[in-house]
Amino acid sequence: MKDTYILAIESSCDETAVAIIKNAKEIVANVVATQIDVHKDFGGVIPEVASRIHVENISMVIEEALKKANMDVADMDAIAVTQGPGLVGSLHVGVQAAKTLAWAYDKPLVPVHHIAGHIYANQLITELAFPLLALVVSGGHTELVYMKDEWSFEILGTTQDDAIGEAGDKVGRVLGLPYPGGVYVDKIAKDGKAIYTLAKPKTENELDFSFSGLKSSVLQFIDRCKRKNETFLPEDLAASYQETAFEALLERARKALELYHPKQMLLAGGVAANSCLRKKISEDMAKAYPEVTFIIPPLSCCTDNAAMIGVAGTIAYQHGERGDFALTADPGMEL
Ligand code: KG4
Ligand code: ZN
Repeated sequence: MKDTYILAIESSCDETAVAIIKNAKEIVANVVATQIDVHKDFGGVIPEVASRIHVENISMVIEEALKKANMDVADMDAIAVTQGPGLVGSLHVGVQAAKTLAWAYDKPLVPVHHIAGHIYANQLITELAFPLLALVVSGGHTELVYMKDEWSFEILGTTQDDAIGEAGDKVGRVLGLPYPGGVYVDKIAKDGKAIYTLAKPKTENELDFSFSGLKSSVLQFIDRCKRKNETFLPEDLAASYQETAFEALLERARKALELYHPKQMLLAGGVAANSCLRKKISEDMAKAYPEVTFIIPPLSCCTDNAAMIGVAGTIAYQHGERGDFALTADPGMEL
């Protein structure tokens, strides 16, 4: 059978990324230009700054990916791009670049949902088997997604307020850690003990999530210590936060496993890089549910990249999904 090559573009937040993917599972090239160092100075992503840097970087990143693959756009079967969700100005840069390539080289244009990308990142390491349950944990999303079959998505539960990545970044900030906070909370928590009791997330629907109460509970804890002139170890607070947040995540995941009996459960999104969460899933969950295969993406595919968009883009392409030249960024795109 003829090989399928997809050039994929991802620019939904603060990474300008381009990848070339062969047959929905092999990375031929994967280039990411991150803006973290710029946004670090502001303590978070400034959307206007992000889109300007995407404009500066996009052509260079496309060229570098093609050079690494030793290929030309003419060799591609299609151009895939993240259409949403994300920051509108950032998404716009990737969508325009993809439309330009598709028009200039007369290639099909394939719009991709960012979260479908995070989920399909797992196909870079293993064959997906359906039905599966995806626990999506990123800066903008916290969701349990049930996939009965290939390219079918049912959202079982979602966050009622903050995403888990967002909450971790905020906790990092109040602990005085650099951006992105969640990464540093993970680092310091390794030396801490989960000794503090924080507000346990509560939701009406047993598969939904909520993290704003827990985030406030961390803030209140710090305020109380300051007021009473009491000291605490930031690493203990970081470990306590992670323990409470991840236990809430896994409580919902266990419930979904019992209700839906999937063959696989996979982790997806930036927070999948968290060492404590990876351990809880690969050890505790795997032991408790031996009939389920637990899949954790490699660290290189957890945070935003275009390889994941290339894999999902290939599946979308095979399912006949196409965009035309009227395609625009969709910041609130639904899965
Ligand atoms: O998927 P992603 O790159 O972007 C979105 O789609 O949102 O996720 C970014 C999020 C950030 O909140 C970042 O702090 C978090 O992933 N993150 C982590 C870790 N690495 C990245 N959170 C906890 N522990 C980590 N090791
Ligand atoms: Zn993402």
